[in-house]
Amino acid sequence: MKQKILIGIGGGIAAYKVCEVISTLFQAGMQVRVILTDSAQQFITPLTVATLSRHPAYTDADFWQPHPRPLHIELGEWADVFVIAPLTANTLSKLSYGTADNLLTNTVLASQCPVLLAPAMNTEMWQQVAVQRNWQQLLTDTRFHALAPGYGLLACDRVGAGRMAEPTEIVTGVQSLLHTQGKRDLLGKRVLISTGGTREYLDPVRFIGNPSTGKMGLALAQAALHRGAIVTLVHTAVEWSVPSGMRAIAVVNAEQMQQAMLENFPDADLTVMCAAVADVKPAEYSKDKLPKRSLPQQLPLAPVPDIVAELGRRKQSYQRLIGFAAQTGDIITPARQKLAQKKLDAIVANPIDRTDAGFGSNFNQAIFLDTQGRQVEIPQCSKLQLAHHLWDFVHGL
Ligand code: C5P
Repeated sequence: MKQKILIGIGGGIAAYKVCEVISTLFQAGMQVRVILTDSAQQFITPLTVATLSRHPAYTDADFWQPHPRPLHIELGEWADVFVIAPLTANTLSKLSYGTADNLLTNTVLASQCPVLLAPAMNTEMWQQVAVQRNWQQLLTDTRFHALAPGYGLLACDRVGAGRMAEPTEIVTGVQSLLHTQGKRDLLGKRVLISTGGTREYLDPVRFIGNPSTGKMGLALAQAALHRGAIVTLVHTAVEWSVPSGMRAIAVVNAEQMQQAMLENFPDADLTVMCAAVADVKPAEYSKDKLPKRSLPQQLPLAPVPDIVAELGRRKQSYQRLIGFAAQTGDIITPARQKLAQKKLDAIVANPIDRTDAGFGSNFNQAIFLDTQGRQVEIPQCSKLQLAHHLWDFVHGL
């Protein structure tokens, strides 16, 4: 059955970006219905969202029309996930007090599904004591899930806090809520994740590396965040920026990654070593770019630290350590060996020789193995879905 997403749009300039969210969710096969407040219609029209969602938009004019059942009840019962974006200071205030004076706020009160909130406003507005109080107050109700605003250029020409979460983050939030149905089973857990391929430089421009983009670890971090975890992401990202809400540590090579992981490991309840660490580095590093004629015919190599093995040695009884094994051919035998050798609690055997899975793809497939002999095969799915399946699996550890 199609997943049903209700989107409430408030009156802010970020409303135009929600059009992209509607389009993406519709194209992903979901049913999308949209409520526009009166002020939202100053920014985008019912025709825009009706065209993108392939369904008439709802406004307060519809609220006051006779329906077989009251519209806010129908819509509230219909939705699997309710998104409010942009959440304005005004709607935030109403929701925090349980006020119901338009279709959007009435529908929130008439629904029971998880609600994803993406506030957007000018920095001064966002930082007002009253606004922050309303925000904290609203979030004490666990059905509300926050997509905290980020930092960036605002429509008032200022750079500051208050910028609405990017459309891709909203879409990811919806997908997470569809999987978890709002449960926060990692609430308060400290999760440490490494991701991306390390680069081992020979000189300032040449390096030994691999095609890993870090999308899998990013998905694990997002999924953990959506399930309530406190997330630290050690990453080598060059193609994406880290979403707000998690602590990010950028590194380049294996030694830097090792340092960041060892520093943060003692505080972590769950650690996932998802990064594709280059196994070797050039034995020498030249701080000046080597002229072509000076490049060695044969490159002397040196090993890099085995980070996960070191983490395995330091692991305490309160900690769980999960590794990845990117393989071609038989993926299970080498993964089982690594599970034992590196003192892991679980490992993700990850084929990288399939089309549209593994390095760089938005999709993946894997077999999860653990020390208790569990073996769970996850067929091809989005990296975010795979991430949620892994967190489900980790519960059994
Ligand atoms: O490269 P390999 O398949 O052996 O990686 C298995 C696991 O070991 C992965 O979790 C990877 O992140 C980790 N690893 C590491 N340090 C290395 C090489 C791999 O932590 N030098």
